[in-house]
Amino acid sequence: MHKHHNALGLATTLNPVDPVTLVRPHAAARAARFFVEKFPGRSMYAVKANPSPELLQILWDNGITHYDVASLAEVRLVARTLPEATLCFMHPVKAEEAVREAYFTHGVRTFSLDSLEELEKIVRATNAATDLTLCVRLRVSSEHSKLSLASKFGAAPHEAKELLFAARQAADALGICFHVGSQAMTPEAYSNAMERVRAAIVEAAVTVDVIDVGGGFPSSYPGMEPPPLERFFETIHRAFESLPVSYSSELWCEPGRALCAEYSSLIVRVEKRRGSELYINDGAYGALFDAAHIGWRFPVRLLREPDSRARDMEFSFYGPTCDDMDHMAGPFMLPADMQAGDYIEIGMLGAYGSAMRTAFNGFGSDQIVIVDDEPMVSLYDDAFQEVASNVVTL
Ligand SMILES: Cc1ncc(COP(=O)(O)O)c(C=O)c1O
Repeated sequence: MHKHHNALGLATTLNPVDPVTLVRPHAAARAARFFVEKFPGRSMYAVKANPSPELLQILWDNGITHYDVASLAEVRLVARTLPEATLCFMHPVKAEEAVREAYFTHGVRTFSLDSLEELEKIVRATNAATDLTLCVRLRVSSEHSKLSLASKFGAAPHEAKELLFAARQAADALGICFHVGSQAMTPEAYSNAMERVRAAIVEAAVTVDVIDVGGGFPSSYPGMEPPPLERFFETIHRAFESLPVSYSSELWCEPGRALCAEYSSLIVRVEKRRGSELYINDGAYGALFDAAHIGWRFPVRLLREPDSRARDMEFSFYGPTCDDMDHMAGPFMLPADMQAGDYIEIGMLGAYGSAMRTAFNGFGSDQIVIVDDEPMVSLYDDAFQEVASNVVTL
């Protein structure tokens, strides 16, 4: 992989024709250390957010030892990249063959489930193994999150008792897990979900060994600036301590976005301007899926030397494919004198950005360059930490 000092220098000296993904290993390392040191339990990494082997290695080197995998391809990838890592297969609906290979070939012992059918599948596929950690996923609200995960998975309140009871019989260790939705904007998302956990434990009257609060930890995007992560940790810690099983159970979390959003950004070139619309060389089928399909706004900045002195105005983007849907409404704030040939850095694409790229219509590029400047926004930098230090610590 090539290295360069910073995004501006790269754009202005190399004038790249295709989009370039910038990666910042120090940003991912800092996020990993933050979770390892401050989350009051075990932090796993949800591999789906960004399965880059280099990133997996950085997270491992900085203390992340457990990985939430959701497909057999992810199981194989992490087993190959980090042979010492512990894998937890946290997709509640799996192919029986996938469970079998995960258990017998890759040593996976932790599986999630949200139905009796899935429990039977896991028991069959592992030949009724006696060393399983089975995590029952409860359905919880996504009302405080920007991306809902409330419809598809999770046992409803009236199903939880029977499922917990059955899983307890089959499991060596029993867990309860949930996901509050991605980019949760307030810690209450977790305290509310923990109330669902409490109700389920009390109703089923089972002993529980693991409480897994899932992912959902936010990053910072324009118009979506969350409170410091410490507040989330503090709320979760308090809610966990008040559960009847806290004395005998472990607390886990499975962040994806928060561990890798700051890891990468993208340099794109403007190929045409039409009023306030910029035609750029990456888009909905590239790393900007979320910008196009869910209207997510990402931080942007012009990479030009000397810098523009024009005032910022609102722009939208068109991607390079021949499809009207390849459109990112933004608005993205950039200088009013933007023109064809300008380079733009689009930040915070480390989570669910590079991971979703396709080569549709012949566009997209695999160019990746390591840079050592700071990400455009950070939840983990000094300025943010000063705000966070006013928060009561655990
Ligand atoms: C089971 C599970 N865990 C963790 C995550 C990671 O979520 P996030 O990136 O919001 O932290 C997801 C995302 O879909 C998930 O489905």
